[in-house]
Amino acid sequence: MATLFDIPPKRDPKLLFGRERDLTDLVKYLHEKRWTVLLGPRRVGKTSLAKCAIEKSGLDSIILDARENTDFASNLLSSLTRQSTFKLEANVSAPTISPLISVGASFSKQVLKQSLDSLLNGRTKRTVILLDEAQWFSNRRTLIMLLAHLYDYHYETITPIITGSAVGVMKSIIEPNNQSPLFGRPIMQMEVNKWNPSVSMGFLNEGLKQQKLSLDTELIVKTVDTLDGLPGWLTMFGYYLTAKPSDYENALNKTLGEALKIVDDETSNIGKLAKGWQIHLKILNNLSLGSKSFTNLLEATNLTNSGLSKHLDMLQRLNYIEKKEDGRYDITDPILRELIKRRIKKT
Ligand SMILES: Nc1ncnc2c1ncn2[C@@H]1O[C@H](COP(=O)(O)OP(=O)(O)OP(=O)(O)O)[C@@H](O)[C@H]1O
Ligand SMILES: [Mg+2]
Repeated sequence: MATLFDIPPKRDPKLLFGRERDLTDLVKYLHEKRWTVLLGPRRVGKTSLAKCAIEKSGLDSIILDARENTDFASNLLSSLTRQSTFKLEANVSAPTISPLISVGASFSKQVLKQSLDSLLNGRTKRTVILLDEAQWFSNRRTLIMLLAHLYDYHYETITPIITGSAVGVMKSIIEPNNQSPLFGRPIMQMEVNKWNPSVSMGFLNEGLKQQKLSLDTELIVKTVDTLDGLPGWLTMFGYYLTAKPSDYENALNKTLGEALKIVDDETSNIGKLAKGWQIHLKILNNLSLGSKSFTNLLEATNLTNSGLSKHLDMLQRLNYIEKKEDGRYDITDPILRELIKRRIKKT
């Protein structure tokens, strides 16, 4: 039986906890043919929300995960070709598409559009295309060009949902400038937020109930204090606890150990790519000790006002930090905070 503590992204709306409002909104947008970008930190449940909305909408779908294949064009065309209802025109056979895609510049753009048109024309049933973690698609220009083409020529049959955890890199899609082919084509934005403590506790209690288990309120509170409102970590904890219900500490430590490895791996990859990462680290080091005001951070980093603003903005766009209601900055993911603390200790 499928349960709340299953690790893969949820597909069944009945297993999507605490996102009723977001789910209703997203399904409504799909029915209204609105394009939507889902933004939120890693492991908050963007893919789950998108997949459940697609399921609930009853529309056809194609899932393109940029982390599995960074080439949007080939990814899209081969998925469309594979779908039995999408038949190429008789004189264009599927294998001819891939070599053409790799041909340079304008010719290939034209060919890409034509290939797409021949795959989509004549389609009556609408299809949702999920562009998952779109910031990792490599050729941004081709991506934007093809999206604009879909918007202009296939609006009736194609409705994309685009997810991303690094807002900075998604800027070209959500805030296109007037030079961009996407300029003037409205795209809805939805933020997928961390759960507040009571929703997180509700999730653990409900998940445990499904497993016919229960946990002292004190331990539920401790778990939520440690893992915060990130569904991914809470799900992992539930998964480990279910395997060995009598050993709470084991489940929490296993979750922390696994989560630290994952976040360590991700931040070393981002560190290689992100501009100004050394300064970002300096800010993160400071924030790992607790939330800080802008003035605190100015003193701690010796940056100028505008320099600090720029770096804070980028860290927020990467979803590594958040600005709280009281105006103070804090690290979004408690696991990242713990990782940085441990790194500081080591040095
Ligand atoms: N609302 C929810 N109800 C139940 N489980 C959830 C929910 N949201 C997320 N999960 C679980 O949390 C984990 C992360 O979810 P998901 O992969 O959807 O998040 P994401 O934001 O797409 O993460 P990533 O940044 O890794 O792509 C998965 O194990 C998923 O099953
Ligand atoms: Mg995802």
